[in-house]
Amino acid sequence: MRIPPIVINFKTYSEAVGDRAVRLAKVAVEVAEETGVEIGVCPAHTDLYRVARAVDGDGVLVLAQAVDAAEPGSRTGHVTPEMVVEAGADGTLLNHSERRMRLDDLKDVCRACMNEGLLTIVCASDAMAARAAGALQPHAVAVEPPELIGTGTPVSKADPEVVERSVEAVREVSEDTAVLCGAGITDGSDVRAAVELGSDGVLVASGVVLAEDPKEALLDLISGLE
Ligand code: G3P
Repeated sequence: MRIPPIVINFKTYSEAVGDRAVRLAKVAVEVAEETGVEIGVCPAHTDLYRVARAVDGDGVLVLAQAVDAAEPGSRTGHVTPEMVVEAGADGTLLNHSERRMRLDDLKDVCRACMNEGLLTIVCASDAMAARAAGALQPHAVAVEPPELIGTGTPVSKADPEVVERSVEAVREVSEDTAVLCGAGITDGSDVRAAVELGSDGVLVASGVVLAEDPKEALLDLISGLE
């Protein structure tokens, strides 16, 4: 499994919950089929199963937004790596700045996800955190300065150094780990700038989820990969 160059985090936006999550995931399928570009979608836990059933094997990978550092057993309300696999997920985000983990928990859960065969994208807020994340040898590190999240001001233009430094830092500790960047990414020129800085793709939320026409927004993002 490869890391898709465009990963959409549905977060808890009402626009991407329940049937609307399935609709948005199907838009991603349409775009993936039309462009040949693989896309990742990260619905809420409660929608993983239905989204995974709706898009299975159609150029779209389904990722959870997080999993807990909890082993199966006598625990309540946790979501384990095994549970998201059973729901049909291909992978998961970990340590998003809106769902931070302690480093020792992150280490354990990262290993548990790998053991379950999940594609693992560890988020980091800066280059130093990206290096620590890369040292866990995940499939990808996604660098996202929290202050730019949801602003529409793209990290790849507003803070190119954090992207460049993160790419360097991750490459130094793990050659096989891809680097995504995210926060404020909204159009193809933001994606182009990200790729020119050495990143392998983008992690995006509001630019697609809240777009008037998510298909058009996705196609525009993908135009930046060409
Ligand atoms: O996980 C993606 C994210 O935090 C970026 O959010 O809305 O700035 O694309 P947004």
